[in-house]
Amino acid sequence: MSDKAKFIHNGSELEFDVPQGTMNEKYVDFSNFRSQTGGIITLDPGYKNTGSCTSAITYLDGEEGVLMYRGYPIEQLAEKSNFVEVMYLLLKGELPTQEELTKFENDVMDHDMVSEDVTKILSAFPSTAHPMGVLSTLTSALTAFNPKAVDAKSETDMYRAAVTLMGKFPVLASWTLRKVKGWPLNYSDNKLGYVENFYQLMFKQPNRDLEMDPVIINALDKLLILHADHEQNCSTSTVRLVGSAHTGLFASISAGVSALWGPLHGGANQAVVEMLDQIKEDGGNVQKWVDKAKDKNDDFRLMGFGHRVYKNFDPRARIIKKAADQVLDKLGIQDESLEIAKKLEQAALEDEYFISRKLYPNVDFYSGLIYRAFGIPTEMFTVMFAVGRLPGWIAQWIEMRQNNEPIGRPRQIYTGAPKRDYIDMNKR
Ligand code: SDX
Repeated sequence: MSDKAKFIHNGSELEFDVPQGTMNEKYVDFSNFRSQTGGIITLDPGYKNTGSCTSAITYLDGEEGVLMYRGYPIEQLAEKSNFVEVMYLLLKGELPTQEELTKFENDVMDHDMVSEDVTKILSAFPSTAHPMGVLSTLTSALTAFNPKAVDAKSETDMYRAAVTLMGKFPVLASWTLRKVKGWPLNYSDNKLGYVENFYQLMFKQPNRDLEMDPVIINALDKLLILHADHEQNCSTSTVRLVGSAHTGLFASISAGVSALWGPLHGGANQAVVEMLDQIKEDGGNVQKWVDKAKDKNDDFRLMGFGHRVYKNFDPRARIIKKAADQVLDKLGIQDESLEIAKKLEQAALEDEYFISRKLYPNVDFYSGLIYRAFGIPTEMFTVMFAVGRLPGWIAQWIEMRQNNEPIGRPRQIYTGAPKRDYIDMNKR
């Protein structure tokens, strides 16, 4: 028996059930609220209090700092799993047997060739183009080279579309780096695993062998796991909204790439490193920048801090901070910005402004320092985030279509001019 809630207005009384999700999250179903109340709607800019869907993929508890993919805690997956297995888990809902995992990885790698004509689109970009803009374009262009529409009722079609995109996306992502650097494009080597192949796509040079440092490959695999899904964040909600119009998977994911680009979202990992370098160049006075972040007259924000859902430590930030220490130590890299990041974190976590607003480091606070240690340029950091988030976007898009969700079309409250008659030009 669920709780009840009442809405009383103008003498009429409406009673609503208050059911619960798997982890006892309570909600009121407002699906018919407007018709039941004769036209009253809810208003919630940024959807801070509004659920857009039910989903069985990822669970977050922002107060407790909990993140689970298909019920498995992120800490266990980061420690024991690998990115290809997590891609399977998000897509299929269960951990694979070894046979299922091998078949899945082979299916993905069978789709790792990208039409040579896509390189002509790439070559039209100036080398100064931001990699996220290039990636969004190339992802959308895949539709032209894979025109067969996905039948949402066909498991086979959905699976084929998913593994096609999972195979091609890392190639496109690597090409954005090669473009920025002016390097020749690499092609997949399906003798390698998914993550090793992504690494060689990015860094293999025609004139020398590429060393696959296991420290780097393992850290990259872990980072991709940590970014793989995050329930209804801005870019995933974008993928679902675009897909709800029955737009194709590739075009929907392309829209998600554009949403992730924003510095308030996935673009924060680039903004964090730029911020840390700015503080370093400014003499490393951490308190000065913490004070700037608190100053309402200063539009500076502590990038990599705060989160719409987490009002506790982002569990991914904890894991990435530890990995950053290990990777930089193992590679013998002294990055002063890592020390500045730790001092910034310490200063902020002891400051009433951040404590009262429950602002903690998020997934983006330390990840860029690891990417930089790998030799990845700053403007590529959000592309790395996108490669990680791809399986989550795909799983969420498929769930939305398989749940037959209606086209997303929010209402609004109009605050513009009241009705008025047209004024002829000679009377204005
Ligand atoms: C990601 O949603 C997801 O799940 C996203 C993500 C994922 O995996 O998909 O986790 C990835 O996008 C992580 C977030 C990366 N973005 C940043 O690090 C940018 C810096 N953070 C902020 O811009 C902000 O914290 C947001 C955008 C992340 C969240 O903003 P909210 O929830 O809308 O919070 P808010 O802007 O209403 O802030 C509440 C208060 C305000 O102060 P008051 O008006 O109450 O006085 O906190 C302040 C804000 O000014 N505040 C900050 C701050 N973040 C919030 N003040 C200084 N520095 C900050 N970073």
